[in-house]
Amino acid sequence: MSIVSTVLNEFQAQFTGEPEGIWEAPGRVNLIGEHTDYNAGLVLPIALPQRTYVAIRRREDRKLRFVSVGMEASQPLNLDEVEPGKPSSWERYPVGVIWALEEAGYPMPGVEAAFISEVPVGSGLSSSAAIEGAIAAAMSDLCNLGLLADDEGRATLANICQRAENHIAQAPTGGMDQAASLRSHEGYALNLDCSDASVRHVPFQLEEAGLALLVIDTQAPHSHTTGEYGRRRADCEQACAQLGFDTLREITPEMLEPLLPRLSNDRLRARVRHVVTETERVRLAVLAMEANDFAELGRLFVDSHASMRDDYEISCPELDQAVVTALECGALGARMTGGGFGGSAIALVYTQSLDSTRAAIGEAFAARGFSAPQFLIAQAGPPAQRTEY
Ligand code: GLA
Repeated sequence: MSIVSTVLNEFQAQFTGEPEGIWEAPGRVNLIGEHTDYNAGLVLPIALPQRTYVAIRRREDRKLRFVSVGMEASQPLNLDEVEPGKPSSWERYPVGVIWALEEAGYPMPGVEAAFISEVPVGSGLSSSAAIEGAIAAAMSDLCNLGLLADDEGRATLANICQRAENHIAQAPTGGMDQAASLRSHEGYALNLDCSDASVRHVPFQLEEAGLALLVIDTQAPHSHTTGEYGRRRADCEQACAQLGFDTLREITPEMLEPLLPRLSNDRLRARVRHVVTETERVRLAVLAMEANDFAELGRLFVDSHASMRDDYEISCPELDQAVVTALECGALGARMTGGGFGGSAIALVYTQSLDSTRAAIGEAFAARGFSAPQFLIAQAGPPAQRTEY
């Protein structure tokens, strides 16, 4: 049965009758530009073909009833009861978006909705942003908000989803994942400038060069509601305060070395060095992609990983192993992607080396007693939209 039929069946079984429609939104893989979004820097994600679908219908009252295929149905919640940290289960994402839409001045009805997702959960591929993007797209269409019609509206929805994530799910993330899910174009990477939310679409075509983007899901668990992500943000804020800047984006690569001695300790110096050099790597990566210079793109991946491992300290043994083995197998570049502390790595691999690379990474993981990694090939899929069925 297709995934769309499955979610439709789930809706009919749980709520009886038909949904008003089905909407979908993608997870993402970030090519480069990590922990730069909340520093007003540059990022370069692609939307994945893997998506989350929601079959949904409005209600006459303000009750919110959500189910997800394969998960136990939870207690319905009234929209007026929603507050930071409540609910605490996965429903905080869709509930948070409806709450944030209302906060933004769009009156919301209650809804009943069934979800299903192809985005692996806990792999750093933004399964939460996919849920948020799907429900945001649905509510925009159902309530005639028209926010899917152009990039400006989609940017508004992305902000609303980020607010849901920050306030209701209480994960202090930046806005990259929601922008990737809502504002990407199929076949293009999204070069988002987080200083002004402007975007540029960069062609992402590896096939002609005989390359593929291999995603290695290390199966090492991660979460951005735990302390480390927030501590990195706090380090950046402290560094800004010490240097007298509003954001680290104000520091150009040329300003970096003379400024570092003014910071109070080596940890802050390392954090700032990562953030400033990482935005510069995104700028260079866009140029490399536009010139089809994949060897240069690969070198930037390698530098980015080293910076995250050594200066930002967000890698882990599984991610480092995936990167080392991919490079040993001839990848042009490899790096961890997403928030870090687990999740996925990416590698720029010649198509003919895909099998041997996957096998070698599997063997290296087994030899170190790590969980077996999962793999997928990332392509640049379309953004959140209504599903025709
Ligand atoms: C997570 C967050 C994003 C971003 C990345 C790191 O995915 O949700 O906002 O900060 O980590 O680049």
